[in-house]
Amino acid sequence: MDIRKEYLEFFKNKGHDIVSSMPLVPDDPTLMFTNAGMVQFKDIFTGAIPRPANPTATSCQLCIRAGGKHNDLENVGYTARHHTLFEMLGNFSFGDYFKKEAIAYAWEFITVNLELPVDKLWVTIHESDDEAYELWQEHIDASRIKRFGDKDNFWSMGDTGACGPCSEIFYDQGSEHFNSDEDYLGGEGDRFLEIWNLVFMQYDRQKDGTLVPLPKPSIDTGMGLERVIAIKEGVLNNFDSSNFQPIIKKIEELAGKTANEETIGSYRVIADHLRATSFMLSQGILFGNEGRPYVSRRILRRAVRHGYLLGFRKPFLAKVYDTLCNILGSHYTDLNEKADYIKEQLTLEEERFFKTIELGMSIFNEELAKTKEIFSGDVAFKLYDTYGFPLDLTEDMLRDKDLKIDNAKFDELMDEQKTKAKAAWKGSGDVAS
Ligand code: GLY
Repeated sequence: MDIRKEYLEFFKNKGHDIVSSMPLVPDDPTLMFTNAGMVQFKDIFTGAIPRPANPTATSCQLCIRAGGKHNDLENVGYTARHHTLFEMLGNFSFGDYFKKEAIAYAWEFITVNLELPVDKLWVTIHESDDEAYELWQEHIDASRIKRFGDKDNFWSMGDTGACGPCSEIFYDQGSEHFNSDEDYLGGEGDRFLEIWNLVFMQYDRQKDGTLVPLPKPSIDTGMGLERVIAIKEGVLNNFDSSNFQPIIKKIEELAGKTANEETIGSYRVIADHLRATSFMLSQGILFGNEGRPYVSRRILRRAVRHGYLLGFRKPFLAKVYDTLCNILGSHYTDLNEKADYIKEQLTLEEERFFKTIELGMSIFNEELAKTKEIFSGDVAFKLYDTYGFPLDLTEDMLRDKDLKIDNAKFDELMDEQKTKAKAAWKGSGDVAS
């Protein structure tokens, strides 16, 4: 089943306009990247621009959650479900239908179209939302509806803008597969997989935090396509689905080895990060030292470091790229059209990091051998400044060792460097004195 198509057609048949994915860089200084399907509609929700003639829409939105309020970068490779870039299916009502229909549509799609077994489904609602509690009981037994507070069941795009209480649909993958301390509904484990978030948009959050009611209560939903594909294919990890497996197989082929329990995380990180950086390049986000290009650089260098762990010593991502195109290129045609350019940029950035990674890794390992609890801020800074290791990459290398970096020292050195750089800058000479 082509779930993307099935979803868009389902909502089209319910009267929604199918709308294209908006760019990854939103026209909004408060947002690092487009992080949800609702971003392109945010001004319609708040009433800043008029509602379209059709007040309902549906989309499959490319989202990045690496930097900003929603940041999943550090989880990628360590959980079965996090990605830096993912596709979010969504349906939206701009003051048209509200909770009753949003819940009924979601239930119909999940149980009829996707045919997910009802006995594996759970629902959460905001603790104050008695209305949603009543409405859900038309579909699911009350014992499977759980109430949570703001942390879990209040959604906002960023620090300001449209937001509201939400209701999430979870799929239970079974205690036979997942039984860590975190594998409970609302926990961090992978057993209860959140597949769809229905946001009941009711407020416009102001800079000072006050919640101003929206002109009309609205609906914003978000369903992670990668997760649903994995569930439908009967695999317990997104990276085991057809969306990622060919990429992982290709990396194995190039590395000349097969993944094992110890190395599989590296393959997953590379697969995820190749997707994110390729899409970013396809939309003109290059690698650089500040802002969005620095996020892209951090993601790519994390992939290179994991490639290094697998034995790669020179650029390899361009050789994996065609496999990515085979999976997503027919829907995202830019990936094919800009293939040469994207491969070239990936290779250039890989080359830059491969030049310094070897020495950086040996400095890192030397320091690690000496470290008891706190990894030296001086060395982390040297790795950053001289060897091109972003701070979060060094953090990532320490993660499974349970060690933290002396961040205060790192920040001090960073500030010193910025001050020196300012003092050294004498102006470009453009301005006549
Ligand atoms: N806008 C809903 C979500 O991202 O979950």
